Amino acid sequence: MVEITETVLRDGHQSLIATRMRTRDMLPAAERLDAVGYRSIEAWGGATFDVCLRYLHEDPWERLRALKRKIRRTPIQMLLRGQNLVGYRHYADDIVDRFVRRAATEGVDIFRVFDALNDPRNMERALHAVRAAGGRAQGTICYTQSPVHTLDAFVQLGKTLAGMGAEELCIKDMGGFMPPSDAASLVRALVKEVGLPVVVHTHSSSGMSAMACMAAADAGATAVDSALSPFAGGTSQPPTESLVGAFRGGPHDPHLDLGQLAELSEYFQGVLAHYRPMLELRSLQTDPGILVHQVPGGMLSNLLSQLKEQDQLARLPDVLAEIPRVRADLGYPPLVTPTSQIVGAQAVVNVLVGARYRQVTREVSDYVRGLYGKPPGPIDAALRTQVLAGATAITGRPADLLSPEYERMLAEVRALVPAATEEEALSYAVFPTVYAAYRRAQDQGLTAEVLDAVAAGLLVALRRPPTAPVTAAAGTPAWARDGRARQMNAGRWVRENHARPGR
Ligand code: CO
Repeated sequence: MVEITETVLRDGHQSLIATRMRTRDMLPAAERLDAVGYRSIEAWGGATFDVCLRYLHEDPWERLRALKRKIRRTPIQMLLRGQNLVGYRHYADDIVDRFVRRAATEGVDIFRVFDALNDPRNMERALHAVRAAGGRAQGTICYTQSPVHTLDAFVQLGKTLAGMGAEELCIKDMGGFMPPSDAASLVRALVKEVGLPVVVHTHSSSGMSAMACMAAADAGATAVDSALSPFAGGTSQPPTESLVGAFRGGPHDPHLDLGQLAELSEYFQGVLAHYRPMLELRSLQTDPGILVHQVPGGMLSNLLSQLKEQDQLARLPDVLAEIPRVRADLGYPPLVTPTSQIVGAQAVVNVLVGARYRQVTREVSDYVRGLYGKPPGPIDAALRTQVLAGATAITGRPADLLSPEYERMLAEVRALVPAATEEEALSYAVFPTVYAAYRRAQDQGLTAEVLDAVAAGLLVALRRPPTAPVTAAAGTPAWARDGRARQMNAGRWVRENHARPGR
């Protein structure tokens, strides 16, 4: 039997609607999700923390507690970026320990811990913290393809993670280009050589994910990730119902009830309707181009907006050709937050400046200096010499350079919120500026409820049918008619004015 991890409350909406699903749209389905019999429900971490505070005016900790009150049997799972937690930089060990402990106390049962460079030293502290907090530690191997990413290297990483306390392993195909043959050989080797349960996480981007899940199950995977169909496909996971249907009656039958799943899908279809303006048709389409350029969907949309801002969209093919070269120069990092942004931004600079590395971004410079961790392969010698300029790169664990931060963060947040709790201090520690803005908005009464009411009022006004055809309104200036037509044009305004966070 293969088990299913349901991602509709995290990766599903992160992949398709830029992580915008609100807690109030999750809660009505929570008890029914709990009754399905999933292995786990992924509901926290990744970009959800950032988006809650930055865009939704919601408290992510409150979301976790609210879900936990309704999801009582099924383990709640989160995605944790190793030493980066749910942010974009390394945090000191004391923050990692406290964040993990608090997340476990408030309801997270399974912690999927990964690092963009597959550097186990960036996952070690978090894995220890998970075990110390009584959570289940899932060590992650980011799947990618390169001359240095051999089956043997992946197995070694699996063994190292097991030695650091991982109780199960995840193969994370964030780019969605893992062929079924690789899924099978990786699962088989990890099960045989490491002996831990293996979970397979894929994205449907190139159209191979369900095939990879089937091959992984045949090779002995314990579980696969999927999303209920309204939030599946394209840059998201394969559909839960399709996998359950495909496995039914065979040796991997997960024994989930398709009728129950259909009811849940009906519900989430309605939820998706609210967020239609956020949904890009491109996110839903199969993109076999990924098999050539290996650029994940989220990274591609970031590139498109960077190029659009500079009015250089026509250079996209050059940038796509430059990305694999920059990646090779940097020792073949897997492309996932934050390495996808590091490689993508440098490729854009190389192309737009017209000379490679005449300008080096601060992130590439930090990367070469070892501040992100150990690159999978050697860095290009000329680039190394240029960036280091005589200095030496650090070879130790990057977080060893950080002194404890918690007390300072607590003092800082107490200047904003005099009675701040540990939870508030942790939110502030992870995203100081975003959290300060969130608190100011709360203090001004701009809560999620108020903003929803305003949005609902606007929608009613916009959707009210005109009493007379717009064209018949004599005297209406053309620009006003155009403006209104644009506003009503399937929410394009919302799409164009809401930046998408990285994934
Ligand atoms: Co994912």
